[in-house]
Amino acid sequence: MFSKKLKNNTKNQFGSDQLQPELMPKHIAIIMDGNGRWAQKRHLPRVAGHKQGMEVVETITKAASDLGVKVLTLYAFSTENWKRPAGEVNYLMDLPVTFFNRFVPELIKHDVRVNVIGDTSKLPQKTQTAVNNAIEQTKDCQGMVLNFALNYGSRTEIVGAVQTIAQDVATGKVDPAQIDEQLFSSYLMTDSLQPNGDPDLLIRTSGEQRLSNFLLWQIAYSELVFTDVYWPDYQPQNLVDDILAFQQRDRRFGGIQVKEGENKNK
Ligand code: IPE
Ligand code: IPE
Ligand code: MG
Repeated sequence: MFSKKLKNNTKNQFGSDQLQPELMPKHIAIIMDGNGRWAQKRHLPRVAGHKQGMEVVETITKAASDLGVKVLTLYAFSTENWKRPAGEVNYLMDLPVTFFNRFVPELIKHDVRVNVIGDTSKLPQKTQTAVNNAIEQTKDCQGMVLNFALNYGSRTEIVGAVQTIAQDVATGKVDPAQIDEQLFSSYLMTDSLQPNGDPDLLIRTSGEQRLSNFLLWQIAYSELVFTDVYWPDYQPQNLVDDILAFQQRDRRFGGIQVKEGENKNK
């Protein structure tokens, strides 16, 4: 019951009492960007930004869970991020190991279940082990799903879905006439998040206003919020502000807004 949670845990803490529980986004996806610039601004190595960014993942996960969010998807490593210097990539591959070692007990306490999208088979063995252990240890949690996008790229995901559908057509498992939006979605990595596979709200930090190959199919009707805050500076208050911005949007899904008391069929 998130209305109770709102009252008990977060009321007045970050202005969350202004949030309308009935308009809470069920699935929030975040492009956590700006770690490198945060560090550079402080004359620190880029990896210092990633370290601080990991702390923020913990804080924001708890805040989102307390607010009653059902799915929090965090873009942690893209299929394009392999282009970075080896030292930075290695550091990023160690982060899930540190993160899960430290935070799995906290996640369990918050009833948070870990899920991953992306091709984890290309990650170093130690990273795969940390991820798989976290998934296993939290598998019975019934609260929010903390969904990490790790070695994730939306185009790879879509091409993979097309390949599998083509194979299923070739073996007679799928009739081409059956292929519709719902069937296609069921071949995407976000299928395990159903009925909340598509984000209601997509947030990108750091001032960049692009998608960088993230959830291209799934965000067809998401509300987009771009904030200038660098991810290592992102606070629960920023999350509440971004959700408030979301709640002020008029989501029409291609229809028209019907004012109260007005007949829709007129
Ligand atoms: C986001 O921060 C983290 C990852 C992409 C892994 P960046 O590392 O992209 O930080 P900036 O954009 O260079 O500041
Ligand atoms: C997107 O950020 C990927 C993640 C946050 C993991 P990038 O920093 O890699 O994206 P670009 O290069 O600015 O588009
Ligand atoms: Mg970046």
